[in-house]
Amino acid sequence: MVTVSGVSLAYVLPRKGSIAALDTISAEFAQDQFHVIIGPSGCGKTSLLKIMAGLLKPTEGTLNIAGAPVQGVRKNTAVIFQDFGLLPWKTVKANAALALKFQKGVSYRLGKVDSLLAQFGLKGFEKAYPRELSGGMQQRLAIVRALVSEPDLLLMDEPFSSLDNVTREEAQDFFLAVKRELQLTIIMVSHAIEEAVYLADRVHVMSGRNPGTIRHSLAITRDGVSHSQFRESPRFYDHCNTLRKLLRDKKYQQAFLSENHRGAVL
Ligand SMILES: Nc1ncnc2c1ncn2[C@@H]1O[C@H](COP(=O)(O)OP(=O)(O)O)[C@@H](O)[C@H]1O
Ligand SMILES: [Mg+2]
Repeated sequence: MVTVSGVSLAYVLPRKGSIAALDTISAEFAQDQFHVIIGPSGCGKTSLLKIMAGLLKPTEGTLNIAGAPVQGVRKNTAVIFQDFGLLPWKTVKANAALALKFQKGVSYRLGKVDSLLAQFGLKGFEKAYPRELSGGMQQRLAIVRALVSEPDLLLMDEPFSSLDNVTREEAQDFFLAVKRELQLTIIMVSHAIEEAVYLADRVHVMSGRNPGTIRHSLAITRDGVSHSQFRESPRFYDHCNTLRKLLRDKKYQQAFLSENHRGAVL
């Protein structure tokens, strides 16, 4: 679905010089899977997501989505940013319908907006403003807004990070239920190990800083265990430990690469 080939990024500074943010990233994000990109703060996760969204142009390398090279913003890609990006002066319904406004030739499919709002537990709040909603509801509204345009690719930058723990786990489960119903490739950025293992089919691990890169990728196998049981299963902890070591332990990173086990990135 998404192929990133040899992508590097340097931010040009206003006075002089530049800052290297990403170094020669090559990674594959298979279709209809839930991908999480994990890495410490400052390793370049947001920058990489913005490149995949077409909002930043890589200094080097190419991006291919659904078989076609991509430059700039793509119609069927939806993005949810960390702060949800809701417009405070617009109502819930107007926020939800925002994407339709920018689609040429599409009359307002407001019926669709209504049914999505209902599906996401926001019925009755159409005329409210974002500040009147709880954090969890704001997050669901951001998801509705992203889904209204019927994307085939959803990019999310730490969408659960501003929620308290209980709301966060509820939001994750809710989101997984939505994912089961939709044909959608999801690429989500996170810095939380447990969240990555819980949600992802595959976790891509970023390391380094100025520049950062992706060196490892780990398939999350659940062996038929349901999501609710998975969080408490030994396998869940195994995956978390592997990720923790991949994020922290240089020797383990090398061993992981040389053994090439469980789908290390080429
Ligand atoms: N607008 C910017 N201008 C200059 N440098 C930036 C800018 N945004 C990010 N950077 C640099 O790129 C690096 C990666 O940033 P970012 O992609 O936001 O990382 P993350 O999301 O993993 O925390 C940062 O360490 C910083 O040095
Ligand atoms: Mg970030």
